[in-house]
Amino acid sequence: MKLILDLDTGIDDTLAIAYALGSPEVDLIGITGTYGNVRVEQGVRNALAVTDLLGFPNVPVYQGLGHASRKDSFEVQPISAFIHGDNGIGDVSIPDSSRSAEQGSAVDFIIDAVKTYGKDLVYVPTGPMTNIDAALKKAPEIRDSIGSIVLMGGALTVPGNVSAWSEANISQDPDAANALFRSGAPATMIGLDVTLQTLLTYNDTRKWREIGTKASIFLADMTDYYIKAYETTAPHLGGCGLHDPLAVGVAVDPSLVTVLPINMQVDVEGPTRGRTIGDGERLNDAHKTMRVAVGVDVPRFLKEFMHRTSVAVSGKRSNEAK
Ligand code: BDR
Ligand code: CA
Repeated sequence: MKLILDLDTGIDDTLAIAYALGSPEVDLIGITGTYGNVRVEQGVRNALAVTDLLGFPNVPVYQGLGHASRKDSFEVQPISAFIHGDNGIGDVSIPDSSRSAEQGSAVDFIIDAVKTYGKDLVYVPTGPMTNIDAALKKAPEIRDSIGSIVLMGGALTVPGNVSAWSEANISQDPDAANALFRSGAPATMIGLDVTLQTLLTYNDTRKWREIGTKASIFLADMTDYYIKAYETTAPHLGGCGLHDPLAVGVAVDPSLVTVLPINMQVDVEGPTRGRTIGDGERLNDAHKTMRVAVGVDVPRFLKEFMHRTSVAVSGKRSNEAK
């Protein structure tokens, strides 16, 4: 399968890159950058540096839109810097890539990729939905030709993480997410309902550390920072949420989750702005365009996660490719 990751490259976005690059089924044809955990420029810098470190310097990275569709600027929230570090990757330093972002527009790259690969293409946004919203507005026909969209964002059966009803990626640009949800594009929502069940602990990061490569030690150091932040923000969980890698996991193997077919919307007006909920106007529409993950096979996902990320940080796939 052809995969595009759309990332606000913070810590779990980086883990999503590692999961994708450790998956033999996946051809990662590009990364498009968005804002959220970090500014878009920093996220692009991180995506370039991480793909280099993992031995995949040929993955093109495009800089996408830098702020929400109805705003004209973006500032990183202090809570994002607390969870992901000022540099987005747990304040761990890795070398800058010698590459730069591709010259073309991220939105045009997405549109062209859908036109080239059609149903073989899965698009996985793990930040705000701003880039895919812009692509659907510019080329509405891609809605019917894309394979699927597997997004990390939202919360249907549990509270939000930035407010009682809103999850971080959706809250950055509720208008874009609402346009996507109501567009009729085939989308699976991987929200806090399931991502807060898939938790990583220091026992797991120790296994990466034991592999002993630069990449494995980076992943361990970076993720230890994230686990420590979770000890403050969500001590009841006993680990850190594997939000973004679970979306990649489901893109590769949809059987990891159980889903509710439902037509969704995002509240954009009033006090519940940013809430992800069923669309009352399309309740009786027999054609359900979205799936919301409400259950996850936790042991199987964690096994796949550790296996695939370990392959990525050992350089096994990148060496095979050479
Ligand atoms: C989501 O918000 C971001 O901070 C994470 O990278 C993840 O995509 C979790 O709510
Ligand atoms: Ca993210």
